[in-house]
Amino acid sequence: MTRLAWLALSLMLSTALVAGDGITSDREQELHNLLIQDCGSCHGLQMKGGLGPALLPQVLQGKNADYLSSVILHGRSGSAMPAWKGLLSPVEARWIAERLLQGVKQ
Ligand code: HEC
Repeated sequence: MTRLAWLALSLMLSTALVAGDGITSDREQELHNLLIQDCGSCHGLQMKGGLGPALLPQVLQGKNADYLSSVILHGRSGSAMPAWKGLLSPVEARWIAERLLQGVKQ
């Protein structure tokens, strides 16, 4: 195969797997599982609250994705909310923040 054909093929493959934010669909699935299982262990499986506050769109009204992703990355000192920056990139924290604002689909 020529180099050009290789280039065209790899471009096609990468656009198939990577959404606009650069997160692959496999990684989106992992982030979704993390949100339900890990975040859900404190915020409730349906984000209705538990040890941590509810993270439903109606509760988060007026808070933006920048604020939420910053809390996710850095945690809240003095509370049980841990920092996730060891596990999540800023883009991934923002992806999660946007899911929360839209309402997490189970
Ligand atoms: C060990 C329990 C625990 C886990 C796990 C946890 N949180 Fe929290 N979270 C909390 C607590 C407690 C607060 C409230 C902190 C405070 O008192 O300011 C909080 C606050 C937040 C806030 C701020 C809400 C607001 O209205 O200001 C966001 C956003 C958030 N958590 C998202 C997440 C996400 C996303 C995850 C998973 C990646 C997660 N949390 C995992 C306990 C947890």
